[in-house]
Amino acid sequence: MIIIFGATGDLTKRKLLPAINNLHKKGLIDCPVICIGRRDISNTEYIKLVGLKSSDSFSKLIHYFKTDLTESNNPLFVKFIKKEFKEHKCKGKLFYFAIPQKLFKPVIDLIKASKLLSGGWNRVVFEKPFGYDLVTAKELNKQVSTIFKEKDIYRIDHFLGKELVQNIQVLRFTNSIFEQMWSNEFIDNVQVIMDEKVLVGSRGGYYDNAGAVRDMVQNHAMQILSLIAMEPPKRMTNEEIIKEKIKVLKALKPVKPSDIVLGQYKGYRGERGVDPHSDTETFTALKFNINNDRWKGVPFYIRTGKALSKSLTEVNLVLKRVKSDLICKNEVPNIISIRIKPEEGVSIRFNNKLPGHGLETSPVKMDFCHRCLFDNNPEAYEVLIHEVFMGNKGLFTSWDEVVHSWKFIDDLLSKNGKVRKYERGSSGSMIARKLLSKDRREWVEIN
Ligand SMILES: NC(=O)c1ccc[n+]([C@@H]2O[C@H](COP(=O)([O-])OP(=O)(O)OC[C@H]3O[C@@H](n4cnc5c(N)ncnc54)[C@H](OP(=O)(O)O)[C@@H]3O)[C@@H](O)[C@H]2O)c1
Repeated sequence: MIIIFGATGDLTKRKLLPAINNLHKKGLIDCPVICIGRRDISNTEYIKLVGLKSSDSFSKLIHYFKTDLTESNNPLFVKFIKKEFKEHKCKGKLFYFAIPQKLFKPVIDLIKASKLLSGGWNRVVFEKPFGYDLVTAKELNKQVSTIFKEKDIYRIDHFLGKELVQNIQVLRFTNSIFEQMWSNEFIDNVQVIMDEKVLVGSRGGYYDNAGAVRDMVQNHAMQILSLIAMEPPKRMTNEEIIKEKIKVLKALKPVKPSDIVLGQYKGYRGERGVDPHSDTETFTALKFNINNDRWKGVPFYIRTGKALSKSLTEVNLVLKRVKSDLICKNEVPNIISIRIKPEEGVSIRFNNKLPGHGLETSPVKMDFCHRCLFDNNPEAYEVLIHEVFMGNKGLFTSWDEVVHSWKFIDDLLSKNGKVRKYERGSSGSMIARKLLSKDRREWVEIN
């Protein structure tokens, strides 16, 4: 059984219900889905609101309940859940918190008071960001831990459900061409780019409190960075992989103020839900250094922002130039690109001789296009919700990872960089050009 708090919200409509519907179509979910919102609408109106058809078999599983979660006392849905759970012989309950963080505590109290945790397994799913900083994350974890054990707490970072993020380990640990060059011996710098064209849209209220660093770097960027930088685990178990990822987070050097770029797109202060005097950053570019033997001297540049010229998520590993006497015109560094969004794939850029006289080169690309070979890619939320049902925590953020990434991010945010304005539609490389040019490097722009 699935119980969604925040059932009329953006996340439920756009991501959760379509993912659960797909799992239902595949015969993987056949228990009631209890949808809790505060709007006074009927079940039929709700089904229409979330874009489903009453005639679909999935719609028959949906039960909408109106409840204000700040003032609920023994709400109607409690009795219903207990009855349906027995009747359908469900194996367990998945509680999905698709609500603002301020509602987490009232809902935890409600679950506790209504004794909803008896019978079968009980698992809870939280969205990112988990907390606002280390102090609030600890407070939240303490509250959740009063009713759920760590093994039953699933903290979503939906990037971990993406094929090409999961593929990072396969790429590294099953291919000698990659694994052998995965260190400062061959790699000059790593660039994690998560540019977005969209503005804050309807999420202004949330975003203005968070900003680009909390919204994207503390979770997605840190996950990608630790997967790229970790040492090979002793065994490919969740525990060993998490141990190695945490070692990377612990080895991050504090970021220098001169290595932090913050920006805000013009017009942001006029967005719905945003403070008209807000200094929240909608763009950031950062330089991280990892204090270990493998990555000594290799900067990791992170970049993310809204209202940019392109939407793309990718990791670029820029290789060192070959020490050679062969001088070719237009030679460029080799680049391994892992493309996560929108077109998933992996490519390698290398120099090739231009036909004709002389040694002039032209960069060319060997390209693996994921969609061209595999067309049955499930969406990240479908993968993740199925993993919760299976009780697999490998694609979720552990508490220790949350602690270490917040420690690092709290320190970074205490450095209070100046937030510069940028035009909507600017290129991320241009806004943060200096961060790399002072190191005599450039942002990769090949995809
Ligand atoms: N949307 C995304 O793409 C996304 C991505 C990553 C993480 N998240 C996280 O996911 C969570 C939900 O995000 P969202 O974008 O879906 O937010 P949202 O659109 O604002 O939806 C919030 C939901 O909570 C309900 N709600 C608010 N106050 C309530 C109350 N007092 N009693 C009962 N229900 C109440 C809302 O009801 P009404 O409809 O009546 O307002 C709505 O159903 C947040 O923690 C967010 O940070 C969202």
